[in-house]
Amino acid sequence: MLSDTVTYPDFPVNAPDTALFTERFSAAANSIRSLYMSLYENHPAGDTQFNRLSTVLHNAFLNRAPRLHQQDAIKKEAGHWHLDHKITGMSLYVDRFCGTLNNLRKKLDYFETLGVNFLHLMPVFESPPGESDGGYAVSDFRKVDPRFGTLDDLRALQEDMSRRNMYLMLDIVLNHTSHHHEWAAKARAGDAHYQEYFYLYHDRGLPDAFERTMPEIFPEAAPGSFTYIPECNQWVMTVFHHYQWDLNFTNPTVFVEMLDAIFFYANLGVDVLRIDAPAFIWKQIGTTCQNLPQAHTLLQLIHQCVRVSAPGMALLGEAIVAPSEVMNYFGKGAFAAKECDVAYGATNMALQWDALATGKVQVMLEAQHAILTKPIGTTWITYTRCHDDIGLGYDDYMIAAAGFDPYEHRKFLKDYYSGNFEGSSATGALFSVNPKTQDARISGTLASLCGLESALQQNDAGAVERAIAKILLMQAQSFFMGGIPMLFYGDESGYTNDYSYTTDPGKSYDNRWMHRPLIDWLKNDKIYIPGSPEQKIFDGTKRLIALRRSNIAFSDYNNLSWLKPHNIHIAGFIRSFNEQRIFCLFNYSNAPAWLTWYAFKEKYPVPTRLYDHWEGKYYEVGADDTYFIAEPYRFYILEPV
Ligand code: GLC
Ligand code: GLC
Repeated sequence: MLSDTVTYPDFPVNAPDTALFTERFSAAANSIRSLYMSLYENHPAGDTQFNRLSTVLHNAFLNRAPRLHQQDAIKKEAGHWHLDHKITGMSLYVDRFCGTLNNLRKKLDYFETLGVNFLHLMPVFESPPGESDGGYAVSDFRKVDPRFGTLDDLRALQEDMSRRNMYLMLDIVLNHTSHHHEWAAKARAGDAHYQEYFYLYHDRGLPDAFERTMPEIFPEAAPGSFTYIPECNQWVMTVFHHYQWDLNFTNPTVFVEMLDAIFFYANLGVDVLRIDAPAFIWKQIGTTCQNLPQAHTLLQLIHQCVRVSAPGMALLGEAIVAPSEVMNYFGKGAFAAKECDVAYGATNMALQWDALATGKVQVMLEAQHAILTKPIGTTWITYTRCHDDIGLGYDDYMIAAAGFDPYEHRKFLKDYYSGNFEGSSATGALFSVNPKTQDARISGTLASLCGLESALQQNDAGAVERAIAKILLMQAQSFFMGGIPMLFYGDESGYTNDYSYTTDPGKSYDNRWMHRPLIDWLKNDKIYIPGSPEQKIFDGTKRLIALRRSNIAFSDYNNLSWLKPHNIHIAGFIRSFNEQRIFCLFNYSNAPAWLTWYAFKEKYPVPTRLYDHWEGKYYEVGADDTYFIAEPYRFYILEPV
């Protein structure tokens, strides 16, 4: 039981800037204490670990390099820096992109040419080959995997990036460790202290009870949520793969250990910390073990701690969950905007794929009300593809409200993208089909799902152009909707699916690898060959980034309003800033779509002339019974002039 008289450690009075630390710590101390207490007050290690927590915070502050303290001050001055329209990200695997961290330093010009100034490096910390889940099974949170280089290489990269004003994002894989992590090894060997770091059980009683209500994450490759460990004759919780052991956050020692790892990353100069799979970090029998209130408490606690010792680091919650659930990750009530600063806009990502397959935007529009009202100061990662599968994670009622049968609609989408629908140009595959529920997600690269792979195979120039138009349409919506656009590497030059994973036993069980290409820099040079698909996609992407950068209305100040639907093929919204308004229109149909000019007149002042920033063309606004005609798979960024 935590007493009211818990003493905070005496911080050394002469330490440089201790006043600043004390100021920030006192401001947060009450919240930190009550959040922590609500989880751990009855735990026997509660008191001791709370004192350790304060020490972790103080050490993190003291170990933070002066240049990072300076960055904290600059970001504070700038206000909500992560909402800015000048940030564009790319997510990449260091080894598959260019081999090593040192090689990546030599690629910084490439990002600058494209306009990317924010890099998400897929996990680079030690992870056993063959049982790595793309690096998400970490065996040492503080050691860079030798495949990529060393910790010093990572530091050097970060410093180079920082000199170029580029931001860095790394992951903290909070929910689990590799079964080769030293904690897991000790637990397996029978060490009682470390056994409490995990959910270990002597028989199937509790595992069975848990599994009754826990959905399976990888039903094909890793069915069930527990794995038998013969060495200690126990069952351990493994929600993801059998080699990823879930950490037990009901143990405060685990929390404080992981908090220390968070500050280790913060002090490497991380600007955005991607918290992997936060929905899963608290488990309780009788629930889905996802999105539990205690998971939110933990995130709020992390947020408060980070504000004390590394306030320049923003937190991204990778919660790929239902629309109404994801909003909770921004924090609610007294903790609004005090949980995750950024969340994945997975709902809109999936809805864009829905619109592309159906040619219609009704479901997209039906879903928006659920995800529109996030707290000021928070933002989305907007994206079309990432390293994971596409889950059709929006709700059935949204599909029904749009006039479709949810089961049939989802079936159509899965068929459309996995090559089972006659007439679809998409080349992809179903990921993690659940034999019990027929649930499935979708794998494939942006280009292949947009039809480039089949168009190239058939040598059909018209189809190639259509695929390119679709690629840019998809990117454009995610670039202008508000949030930090995150490209997935390879998509900027139109990489199609890579099937080499099928012959690698460490990957063949997981078809997400088809959309995690190995970059061939000779092939990539085609971006310089005028008229090649690579060049058109690269230049189009580059122009999109530049256009976004040129206009503050594309920052995310909750300054988005959707247009009323006047045509079921066209998604449209207004981005505004002070007096400025920009109409963004996206035609998801393979045919021209007509939009009454009245669509531009519903809000005052009524424009008379519009300038399309994308094509550099002017339009005179016509009478209400005449039409703006949107070309197939085209988008328009129209500003009243
Ligand atoms: C996240 C990652 C995914 C990984 C999972 C387990 O969802 O994005 O790639 O498989 O967490 O760590
Ligand atoms: C995590 C993500 C989910 C993804 C899965 C595997 O569970 O939340 O979207 O499908 O990892 O990639």
